[in-house]
Amino acid sequence: VNRTPLIAGNWKMNLDHLQSIAFVQKLAWSLRDAKHDYSEVEVAVFPPFTDLRSVQTLVTADKLDLRYGGQDLSEHDSGAYTGEVSGAFLAALDCRYVIIGHSERRQYHGETDELIARKTVAALRHGLVPVVCVGETAEDLEKHGPSAVPVAQLGVVLAALEADADVVVAYEPVWAIGSGQAATPEQAQQVCGALRASIAEALGDEAAARTRILYGGSVKAANIAGFMKHKDVDGALVGGASLDVGEFASIARFP
Ligand code: G3H
Repeated sequence: VNRTPLIAGNWKMNLDHLQSIAFVQKLAWSLRDAKHDYSEVEVAVFPPFTDLRSVQTLVTADKLDLRYGGQDLSEHDSGAYTGEVSGAFLAALDCRYVIIGHSERRQYHGETDELIARKTVAALRHGLVPVVCVGETAEDLEKHGPSAVPVAQLGVVLAALEADADVVVAYEPVWAIGSGQAATPEQAQQVCGALRASIAEALGDEAAARTRILYGGSVKAANIAGFMKHKDVDGALVGGASLDVGEFASIARFP
């Protein structure tokens, strides 16, 4: 199975409205001007909710080959949930993807594996492709070794899915996020391989062969190629380095 690599930029709560617009325009120019053939790589950005409409307008008006999505969504479809954003609203903005269960949501908003599983199902209900984040803390790594915690986290989500569910998994070791201390490509491969094996076990070989697994945590232009060489790493979820359009375009130019 040929898995199209995905380079995804999670802006978190960083770029303001004007910066978001400028970014999308420059990124589009940069990807278009490049001699490299991007048809083999999918590029996606995850702006704050408040800028999704503007990104949609730019992408539609200029027919940009750029995907985008929300950084979170509600487990509910509609109703009295102040401050929440439903999958239906994201789908109406032509979002392709939605990030679910980022470690910052787990840590600062108390999101549990069970809630993350329900959000994943909600995303699928609205035709969005969930980018489900898993990853261990430094303490977990010391106590349980490299794969146990991410595999257990993903297991709760997999138990809620049908075999034909279209999801992306992002392995993000918490100790590597924003630390400048990326996992080694070998460490990333080891855990991504274990995650793929767990998908095979839960949903079957076809699902495991088709599902894209990304690495995230201090990815930059200088280290992306090392990760992409490994067979179970299908792309990257990029934080800090996705805020610089030149750097992000270089990451998307990894091959
Ligand atoms: O979602 C992105 C990750 O949290 C990675 O962030 O590239 O700044 O380490 P980082």
